[in-house]
Amino acid sequence: MHVLRPLYVVLALAVIMLIARSFWVPNDFGTHEQGYTYGWYRQSNVEEWKNFTVKYRGKEFCGTCHAGQAQKLASAHHKDIECENCHGPALFHPADPLKLVLDRSRELCLRCHTSLFYPTSQRSQIKGINPDQHNLGLECTLCHKPHEASKPGRRNR
Ligand code: HEC
Ligand code: HEC
Ligand code: HEC
Ligand code: HEC
Repeated sequence: MHVLRPLYVVLALAVIMLIARSFWVPNDFGTHEQGYTYGWYRQSNVEEWKNFTVKYRGKEFCGTCHAGQAQKLASAHHKDIECENCHGPALFHPADPLKLVLDRSRELCLRCHTSLFYPTSQRSQIKGINPDQHNLGLECTLCHKPHEASKPGRRNR
């Protein structure tokens, strides 16, 4: 008989887990109309994401007020970079925040321009510099204009 004891323990655990599950798993968790296309999900989560506030607004929005910057950027090396990649999410700007940050730190640029030792990804196709040698201690924006970053216009200040 004692060989059955482990079996009772396992059965008891299974029952406890089923009871616990009925408390923890939300009622609308399942496969829903789409069957197994999207696997298992909580249906109310769809509405939650629809109501999620999008913090990034995109270049076109910025250009409606900052036409000068948008125009310059469009014909520069940074044309594919979103304004908010450097200035942070606009959210309800210009109402709140009134202004976006002007980050002149070397770190902002080095995120993309530090040359990589192992050039395997497309990230390494961006022109890189060695941050320990390239004009150490000086802000990049002293010599490179972020909106006009281009080959001939390096020392454009
Ligand atoms: C409805 C008009 C409007 C839109 C759209 C807008 N801005 Fe602004 N922005 C302003 C105003 C007004 C100011 C504050 C006055 C100023 O310094 O030019 C400002 C300030 C800024 C500043 C600070 C400038 C400084 O000198 O300190 C930055 C950076 C900026 N905006 C970036 C952006 C970006 C990036 C976007 C798009 C995501 C954007 N703005 C969209 C109107 C706008
Ligand atoms: C590669 C990073 C980068 C991108 C992309 C970028 N900015 Fe800037 N921006 C900066 C930096 C850094 C400064 C501060 C420059 C300085 O003071 O020398 C700045 C300055 C500004 C200013 C203050 C006034 C001026 O022209 O110096 C505004 C407004 C602004 N940016 C808006 C924009 C808008 C709008 C876009 C997109 C069309 C954009 N920026 C794209 C990095 C960027
Ligand atoms: C989000 C990534 C990103 C950030 C941040 C960024 N850059 Fe760039 N930068 C690029 C890409 C992409 C190019 C175009 C590809 C190329 O020419 O290397 C470029 C091109 C350039 C060039 C032209 C290189 C050449 O061909 O001679 C300069 C100079 C430059 N960036 C300076 C800066 C400075 C200064 C900052 C900070 C204010 C900065 N970048 C921030 C991605 C970035
Ligand atoms: C004192 C001025 C000065 C400062 C500060 C400066 N640069 Fe440069 N940068 C230059 C000059 C001049 C060149 C072109 C000659 C060369 O390739 O070294 C250049 C070239 C570049 C290039 C192109 C490299 C290539 O292979 O063609 C990139 C990218 C760059 N700088 C990014 C940066 C970044 C990022 C910073 C800040 C961490 C920075 N620079 C700070 C003057 C400066």
